[in-house]
Amino acid sequence: MTPTADHPAQAAREQAVTDEVLASFDGAGSVRYRDVMRSLVRHLHGFAREVRLTQREWEHGIELLTRAGDITTDKRQEFILLSDVLGLSMLTVGINAPAAAGATESTVFGPFFVADAPEVALGGDIARGAKGVPCYVSGTVRSTDGSPLPDARIEVWEADEDGFYDVQYDGEKSAGRAWLRSGPQGEYCFWSVLPSPYPIPHDGPVGDLLMAAGRSPMRPAHLHFKVDAPGHATLITHIFVAGSEHLDSDAVFGVKNSLIVDVVQEPPGRAPDASERTEAWTRIAFEIVLAPEQEEQS
Ligand code: BEZ
Ligand code: FE
Repeated sequence: MTPTADHPAQAAREQAVTDEVLASFDGAGSVRYRDVMRSLVRHLHGFAREVRLTQREWEHGIELLTRAGDITTDKRQEFILLSDVLGLSMLTVGINAPAAAGATESTVFGPFFVADAPEVALGGDIARGAKGVPCYVSGTVRSTDGSPLPDARIEVWEADEDGFYDVQYDGEKSAGRAWLRSGPQGEYCFWSVLPSPYPIPHDGPVGDLLMAAGRSPMRPAHLHFKVDAPGHATLITHIFVAGSEHLDSDAVFGVKNSLIVDVVQEPPGRAPDASERTEAWTRIAFEIVLAPEQEEQS
């Protein structure tokens, strides 16, 4: 039986441990480091006291973190995944989002970004062989004051219609990702495929955590964006397909209403870029608004 903290001697013994650990950060070289670590210790100890953490539960936690370490490689980051499913990633995104009114909202980065994706021309095809219904995505990149942002670097990546990113394929094939630059009026457009829902990697400890919680590993259909323009904060976001399954139960809490976009179904025929489509295709409009970079606080 775990002792309760009702007895004053027990409560004092527990508080003494916390106080000693808090004091151990007194000599920290950085005030910020000291304050962050003290807060972490206060909350961690508070959590252990609140749930009356048993020795076995402590071991379970250590086992989970050990397994997360064991499965983590340069291609798989289980600790970020853990942060994602606990909502810490989205909370950190929210805390750090630029305060500028009207800027496009941010969401989680996810593990499937690849830094050296190929460039495509404005209007090019970022699917590059990924399977799915063709989808034409277009809009304008602007600053919050409405001025267009030419030459913005727009990185896009997505899963194919089977829910797989290229990095999950066998072999080295690159597909479903590319970058392009906005045109002179901030306009951008590209061909892609209509994204599909897919599960986050759930064959490791994070998958076990979800299973124990009765939670699904699924994410709703989405397309990732990373947008950079001089003098503006980098935007990391997705668009989510309206009506997609799992919009209300995203495993990583990434959905924001402002990022849900309608998909227009189009029959074969002439597309906005004057190409002739022989099969049915789809269309999404997405306006991108970047926040001006904040002055560094001194
Ligand atoms: C993704 O959307 O690519 C993703 C985000 C967080 C965890 C796993 C996948
Ligand atoms: Fe994704």
